[in-house]
Amino acid sequence: MLLVLLLFTQGLAKRSPATYFYKEGKPLIIAHRGACGYIPEHTMQAYQVAAYMGADFIEPDLVPTKDGYLLINHDANLNDTSNVSELPEFQHLKTTLTYSTFAGKVTETGWFAQNFTLEQVKKLDAKQRIPKRPQSLNVFKKITIEEALDWVITENQKRTAINKPLLGAYIELKNPEYFNSAGFPVEDMLLKVLKQKGISDIKGASAKCPVVLQCFELQSLKYLSTQTDLPLTFLMKSVLNYDINEYKDAVNALGPNFGFIFGENGASSGFVEEAHELELAVHPWVVRDDFINSEAEVESYYMKLNYEQLDGVFTEFPDSAYHFFNLY
Ligand SMILES: *[C@@H]1O[C@H](CO)[C@@H](O)[C@H](O)[C@H]1NC(C)=O
Ligand SMILES: *[C@@H]1O[C@H](CO)[C@@H](O)[C@H](O)[C@H]1NC(C)=O
Ligand SMILES: *[C@@H]1O[C@H](CO)[C@@H](O)[C@H](O)[C@H]1NC(C)=O
Repeated sequence: MLLVLLLFTQGLAKRSPATYFYKEGKPLIIAHRGACGYIPEHTMQAYQVAAYMGADFIEPDLVPTKDGYLLINHDANLNDTSNVSELPEFQHLKTTLTYSTFAGKVTETGWFAQNFTLEQVKKLDAKQRIPKRPQSLNVFKKITIEEALDWVITENQKRTAINKPLLGAYIELKNPEYFNSAGFPVEDMLLKVLKQKGISDIKGASAKCPVVLQCFELQSLKYLSTQTDLPLTFLMKSVLNYDINEYKDAVNALGPNFGFIFGENGASSGFVEEAHELELAVHPWVVRDDFINSEAEVESYYMKLNYEQLDGVFTEFPDSAYHFFNLY
């Protein structure tokens, strides 16, 4: 009896009480960096297009600016997704930085968000990272998490009025251990923004803007779990040497690279089943339709994913995920 009770309470801890974290019979569509297959990543326009394409969540990545804003950018370095290298006024901010990531130390030369004020970042134009994607839309601005959340909250007021499901924000802290050591307490900075918007817990988030927090660094998620009841996703990159027991009590979902999902010959590796046994949701990343050869292959890709078993999918083409999950 005691054992049964114990298992039961442990199970409850892993299945988040946030109903927006689960979608009956279909994976959540998480628009990775917005609809970045079409529009430069992490711009307001990439998020808006993703929302109108049927995404359930936009997916902001956060790095701090010099003056303490949380800028939405995938990299610490601004060069791959902006025209900073073409602007003479910022040449003096070019620098070489060594920083730690979940995968080890990295040394890079470029222009780093933490050396720019927000006002300076706003002078840049966002740029499509992947050369074969449309470059003609490299005219939008980079934005902060406040700006993105303000738009989502406004959009959700309209959705609430017509009784439609809300759009959410699936927010990733990039390199939090490093940023903390560099004087940017990014977890607390984010929690403060979420509090200001009234969405720092499940109750507020469910009413105004569903929020999920994700990170590659487990320590950061463990800290967040002491500060908020929002659902937490641990991101996993390496297929080798994972031990699900290390994560199972700290988070509500695992975000594996697709490599985890498949074993030899594309059959299930058992990862999804193992996670589900522990009541952890599985949100793998990332579907890039344009790295697959044809439309037919995109369909067969989703088939191969056995998507009905997945709880969410990170995709850069939310329209094709929406089409596939709803028409088949
Ligand atoms: C950029 O920021 C780092 C630490 O955040 C600092 O060590 C470095 O001096 C700064 N570089 C410039 C060019 O401002
Ligand atoms: C910055 O990006 C430009 C254009 O994409 C590239 O040519 C250049 O080598 C990059 N500079 C650095 C320092 O990475
Ligand atoms: C780069 O950004 C500046 C400042 O916003 C803008 O005036 C310029 O047209 C941009 N250059 C390109 C090539 O997009």
